[in-house]
Amino acid sequence: MCESGLTVALADEQETCHLGAALARTAPGGAQDLLVTLAGELGAGKTTLARALLRALGVTAAIRSPTYTLVEPYEVGGRKLLHFDLYRLAGADDLEALGYRDLRHDTWISLVEWPERCGLAVGTADLACEIDYFDSGRRIKIMPGSHAGHDWVSRVRAWRDGNSTQIGSVK
Ligand SMILES: Nc1ncnc2c1ncn2[C@@H]1O[C@H](COP(=O)(O)OP(=O)(O)OP(=O)(O)O)[C@@H](O)[C@H]1O
Ligand SMILES: [Mg+2]
Repeated sequence: MCESGLTVALADEQETCHLGAALARTAPGGAQDLLVTLAGELGAGKTTLARALLRALGVTAAIRSPTYTLVEPYEVGGRKLLHFDLYRLAGADDLEALGYRDLRHDTWISLVEWPERCGLAVGTADLACEIDYFDSGRRIKIMPGSHAGHDWVSRVRAWRDGNSTQIGSVK
């Protein structure tokens, strides 16, 4: 694992939601065009995490899984947020047809489930998250891919260390 990455055990859905809220609370406020990718098998908890993150950022509207719509847009305090699910896409051409690049213009944070469907065309993630099944729950690896991402992970780690009874650390 990348030294600057963070691995966190998520024993149940509530812990996934706590981590989503922590990612929101520690998100770089001043940055633009942040990309958070959420990889993991079917049912790993990607939408659960995305929903908790969006909610904690201040989204009050219903947060639906973009499984069929491919992308769901939100706005908080005049800032755009996007939640993508690329499961149904076959590659970079489909991403282009979706208008991925134009949609992301002027967006604060884009959350992308199933980034592996479109490979490099998704772009370099500030935070690349991978969720695995682990014991009876899940485990998430959060890997920074930019300066903003490194700082973000540091703040999440500080939050995790101050909340070790809420979220179990495995590394
Ligand atoms: N840490 C956890 N431990 C156990 N179950 C969890 C955990 N986090 C989320 N879940 C559960 O996993 C199930 C699937 O969650 P979710 O829909 O978020 O997965 P997903 O990765 O988005 O799936 P898909 O690949 O279909 O998009 C939900 O029932 C949710 O409650
Ligand atoms: Mg999902």
